[in-house]
Amino acid sequence: MQLIEHVAEMTALARSWRSQGLTVGVVPTMGCLHDGHLSLMRLARERCDRVVVTLFVNPLQFGPNEDFAAYPRQQRLDCQLAEEQGADVVFAPDSRELYPEGFQTTVKAGELAKGLCGASRPGHFDGVVTVVTKLLLLTCADVAVFGEKDFQQLTVIRHLVADLHLPVEIVGAPIVREPDGLAMSSRNKYLQGEMRQEALCLYRAITEARRLALATPPPAAADILEVVRQIVAERGGALDYAVIVDERNLREVPAVDGHSRLILAARIGGVVRLIDNARLLPDHA
Ligand code: PAJ
Repeated sequence: MQLIEHVAEMTALARSWRSQGLTVGVVPTMGCLHDGHLSLMRLARERCDRVVVTLFVNPLQFGPNEDFAAYPRQQRLDCQLAEEQGADVVFAPDSRELYPEGFQTTVKAGELAKGLCGASRPGHFDGVVTVVTKLLLLTCADVAVFGEKDFQQLTVIRHLVADLHLPVEIVGAPIVREPDGLAMSSRNKYLQGEMRQEALCLYRAITEARRLALATPPPAAADILEVVRQIVAERGGALDYAVIVDERNLREVPAVDGHSRLILAARIGGVVRLIDNARLLPDHA
């Protein structure tokens, strides 16, 4: 496996693959890899001839009071993990490689980026779509894999690719969880002592919401959300938002059907902001 740090080198290699008729699968990450990330790599490996994992903590998607500087970084271990999953290249550019002096052109996300996480993280999705556009173009990606863990991000990226006619297939991958249900996240590293237990409030709320949604007829979305709020509060989380949306357009819905998804974000211990989501009814519903 090759570690590449320069855009010119990455582009040259990607173009040579393309000229040989090889397909390229890309897994964009900010590093500090866990099993959730690794599952995306396995999907890319199954589908493509060459796999590129990108490691880049993108300054453009962090707000001024967010954790850009503190974001965990472990490049050496990440390269080892990516290699074990069969990645051909880890692309880990420096900030100046992607945003050299004079950089001034960005991509702006639309309506889908305004609510949910976009409401409390202004500019976040503009930063995400800008870096994802650059990464997909410079790797000549045929396929790019993203996790459902960041469901709004996945939806915004699907729109990005459609709106800008980027010739890339976006593949969504299911959420990978710890044995007790906590969704894997690089930010779980911040959970100290009791916070690890408190962090389960998101999954507990999801489990209960899914149980309630199975009733015939299911309760109104507002009633399910009331229970979600209670569970998060009782278990020590501070809810940022909880919504039940149609997963195709992220619009809030009054009643639950087979396309309904509960999406929530909460602060644990007052500081660590975690997100989670799940479809409320089983697939066949
Ligand atoms: P990061 O948080 O590192 O996540 C990289 C990818 O891993 C995303 O597609 C995310 O949804 C997926 N992922 C994270 N936790 C997961 C889990 N428990 N199960 C399944 N997939 C999971 O998301 C970003 O980085 C950045 O915004 C990025 C897209 C790289 C742009 O900078």
